[in-house]
Amino acid sequence: MSTDRHTRLGPLALIGAIVLLFIAAFAWAAGWIGARRVNGGDVIAALEDNGGKHPGYRRAHAKGLCFSGTFAATGSGAALSVAQALARGSYPVIGRFSLAGGNPLAGDGRNVFHSMALLLNTPDGQQWRMAMDHTPIFPVADIDSFLALQRATKPDATTGMPDPALIQPFLAAHPEVRAFQDYMAKAVLPDSFANAIYYSINAFRFTDRAGTARLVRWHFVPEAALTGLDKARLDRLPRDHLLREMTARTAKGPSRWHLQLVVANPGDVTDNATVAWTGPHRTIEAGILTINAVSPEETGACRDLNFDPTILPEGIGLSDDPLLAARAKAYSSSFSRRAAEGAGPSAAGGAMDPETARRETAR
Ligand code: HEM
Repeated sequence: MSTDRHTRLGPLALIGAIVLLFIAAFAWAAGWIGARRVNGGDVIAALEDNGGKHPGYRRAHAKGLCFSGTFAATGSGAALSVAQALARGSYPVIGRFSLAGGNPLAGDGRNVFHSMALLLNTPDGQQWRMAMDHTPIFPVADIDSFLALQRATKPDATTGMPDPALIQPFLAAHPEVRAFQDYMAKAVLPDSFANAIYYSINAFRFTDRAGTARLVRWHFVPEAALTGLDKARLDRLPRDHLLREMTARTAKGPSRWHLQLVVANPGDVTDNATVAWTGPHRTIEAGILTINAVSPEETGACRDLNFDPTILPEGIGLSDDPLLAARAKAYSSSFSRRAAEGAGPSAAGGAMDPETARRETAR
């Protein structure tokens, strides 16, 4: 082969290799090659199989109550992040209390979860969305385990209760669930949405003005004293007890929570939501959340929002916890479906909120 031919073939071979690389990357991203990756649709299918299909409703945390209020930042959180929400000032908030599970008609006497979702708007046009539960840890650490959990806890058609024959093998294969079970066995189950602590559970990366990044978990501590539901009589609780209680309470006056930012110690596990951070931690009181109005989700502003916890302002980013990416996919699939179904609380044909629409288009 002449040197001339070598010189001509060299660039052609390089272009060919680059094209092949692009095709392989596209096929991988599309899931055509390599191990099949779980997508948002898989999660929604598993949730629907467990909780039933309820068109127009969220596929998890289907039962909820919208609220609005303000977040008054102390300014102390600015030591951890440049997010404007943590600079001293008062910012409007829209949120939603909910109970976990895919059935919007289920009773309120359930162990997991009492939850709070928040959307914090700041004048710089940025948003901080959160979805928090009343437990500091989650039962599982990754998406495959989450799917297995949904399958294992599917209510039996005759008893309406989870089937021990499904749960036992799941627990044997997932010893990490034990920490959550132990926590729930001892925990007081809040008798109001107003007196629960709400935890981010996942860690997030906060970056300060000097560019220093730290991993942080946060929680909102209520001013209302914690009193518990009678766990032995949960099935006797009137169906919408917690929603009604919060509505009646708010008619009498606002409820408040204090946002605590907890900085990871060296050695804390930051990529596994089943592991608690124990012992003393640097903790910053970042502000006070005040909720002064609630409304049913059929008509409230929270209905057409996707409280995707990966929509974050500058200065707060994702940690290496794999649950976060899984949550983003699942919340997006759930949102797209319920918004398109023209039934349930979304019957008015809920328009996609602009930030979700932007992300859906970019996907
Ligand atoms: C740290 C763990 C988690 C927490 C704290 C959490 C919390 C929440 C909360 C509070 C909501 C209600 C949001 C609202 O009121 O609109 C919610 C909804 C939802 N969650 Fe999670 N969740 C967690 C993990 C997961 C995981 C692992 C999945 C599945 C991969 C998942 C799937 C969903 C879905 C599909 C919705 C409905 C979203 C919508 O239609 O707007 N969650 N979650």
